Amino acid sequence: MHKVIFILIGAIKIAIAKIAVWYYISNNPAVEAVLIKNIEQINEPMKYELPKLPYAYDALEPYIDAKTMELHYTKHHQTYVTKLNEALEKHPEIADKPLEELLANLDTVVPEDIRTAVRNHGGGHANHSFFWTIMSPEAVAASKANKEAVPAGEVGDAIAGVFGDFKKFQEEFNAAAASVFGSGWAWLVVGDDGKLAIVKTGQQDSPLMKKQKPVLGLDVWEHAYYILHNANRGEYIKNWWSVVDWIAVERHYNSHALT
Ligand SMILES: [Fe+2]
Repeated sequence: MHKVIFILIGAIKIAIAKIAVWYYISNNPAVEAVLIKNIEQINEPMKYELPKLPYAYDALEPYIDAKTMELHYTKHHQTYVTKLNEALEKHPEIADKPLEELLANLDTVVPEDIRTAVRNHGGGHANHSFFWTIMSPEAVAASKANKEAVPAGEVGDAIAGVFGDFKKFQEEFNAAAASVFGSGWAWLVVGDDGKLAIVKTGQQDSPLMKKQKPVLGLDVWEHAYYILHNANRGEYIKNWWSVVDWIAVERHYNSHALT
């Protein structure tokens, strides 16, 4: 009998404590607002964010100017992120899937009403997030010191194996980048056969759409070079090699080709 009374008293104490907490929260609007916001965040689908730029806007000068970097990152890339999130808000059931999976399976996984938006803005987010990683101030410093940056290690061997030597690869890549009609990208990718290849994509199409893994990529939209080079894409391409970080390229290659 004593045991039943003991349990009953315990239950009453818990109930009183819960009522006290409820009373405190409902009489403190600030606390209530924080709790509601936290619950909303838990229920929200995953949202994409602009990745941190790993260097200052002027870090790639004189080859890529600070104003271009700032606009490219804060306006163009941010717009892709914002519009990708807006599209995915309409279909929270796919919002938690990796972007790579969405891009590789646009026709089967992504609902038709947001397919174009995910292709353009998801592609734009993936492409630019990658692009920032393969350029660096260290590469700029080496170029300024007239140290010609060339690929080494596994990726250097693979480039030599496929294209003959670095100069031949560079010529082929330059020709691809120069011949992109309108806006788009030139890429060095690891194909689904595991081999390196140079490919082009239009607009913000990503190599991931064809299950190709990017190793090196060059944005040839005019927004990437117009301030410094006007419409001279060839000059921009020539300058861009001075900012390419081959250590980062090697890292990308190893993560794709050796897995
Ligand atoms: Fe861009």
